[in-house]
Amino acid sequence: MTGAVLCALDDVPDGGSQGFVAETAEGRRAVLAVRKGQSVFAYVNSCPHIGAPLDFKPGQFLNLEKTLIQCANHGALFRIEDGHCISGPCAGKDLQVVPVEVRDGTVYVTGSD
Ligand code: FES
Repeated sequence: MTGAVLCALDDVPDGGSQGFVAETAEGRRAVLAVRKGQSVFAYVNSCPHIGAPLDFKPGQFLNLEKTLIQCANHGALFRIEDGHCISGPCAGKDLQVVPVEVRDGTVYVTGSD
């Protein structure tokens, strides 16, 4: 299984984030991706608070320190590694994981084909 291409690894700045539209196991979704070196963490771009996109400025999904994913709407904070909300109106809930894998500089959505 190859998986659908999400993006090139370099489309996501190292230590930063970017937004995409991609085929997932549940169909076409807006997806946010955060990169740490060669690792990419991806989630459906929908806040568990009210289902709004997390980014006000397209592609900017992180807090100032770039240590957490931050929802621009009401400030919920999520761990980059597992999408768990640690603070804000949806504390204890989780972003929906989009499973991805990085191969040869390309990020693939796994389980999408
Ligand atoms: S929509 Fe994300 S915190 Fe309210």
